[in-house]
Amino acid sequence: MRQILVAGNWKLNGSLDSVKQLVSGILGGVDDTGNTAIAVCPPFVYIPLVSNLLVGSKVKLGSQDVSDQESGAFTGEISGPMLKDFSCSYAIVGHSERRALYAENDEFTARKFAAARSCGLIPILCVGETLEEREAGITEQVVARQLDAVIELEGIAAIGDAVLAYEPVWAIGTGKTATPQQAQDVHAFIRGKLAGLDQAVADKVQILYGGSVKGSNAAELFAMSDIDGGLIGGASLQADDFLAICMAGN
Ligand code: 13P
Repeated sequence: MRQILVAGNWKLNGSLDSVKQLVSGILGGVDDTGNTAIAVCPPFVYIPLVSNLLVGSKVKLGSQDVSDQESGAFTGEISGPMLKDFSCSYAIVGHSERRALYAENDEFTARKFAAARSCGLIPILCVGETLEEREAGITEQVVARQLDAVIELEGIAAIGDAVLAYEPVWAIGTGKTATPQQAQDVHAFIRGKLAGLDQAVADKVQILYGGSVKGSNAAELFAMSDIDGGLIGGASLQADDFLAICMAGN
């Protein structure tokens, strides 16, 4: 039985005050979240603050991105070892906003995945199709291609050390959640594809769903056999909303 993981991706949101308030709200309710594993991914500049606030709690810290480079002349980048210095456990890689808005392709994403892993961060690898791709009937091809880039670079065993997140682009920030069955179908496809390469990896890896997850729809999504939690955007910015999703994992 895989543990449910609920991770909040705060994206480009927050201020010093709102971040303190949000973390304190989450910590106030964390005792009611049972066995659900929880992580928050603040903007880089708030990571030191959030890292301090989370000391002694079960809430883990993650970044929204990570450089493919470890150090050197790479202006503006943040490396995996820097994130480890602040007790980050996870690093999101290949979020659809990075892919679409910052032209990060499959190979670049795979290098970020490798960089995260090489310093002991757990990559949260995002995959997912656009509406156009879904309507063209190529969802599985797109997701397979995104996974294959990482498997080719790092090998199938590396997926066992990571978390996957299926985030259909058309469901992100739109209020249009995939139905539990639509999400389950793609999760099952992903797990089946991995099983063809390594059954133990397929059985072990947590596959999160992301895209307009809310307190009101989380329980039915998490009840699906191949959905092991959620990657939450908008609803992770309010402690009560985020905690309601965490509790749905029980
Ligand atoms: P929303 O929950 O706002 O749809 O965002 C999902 C997401 O992109 C998480 O990474």
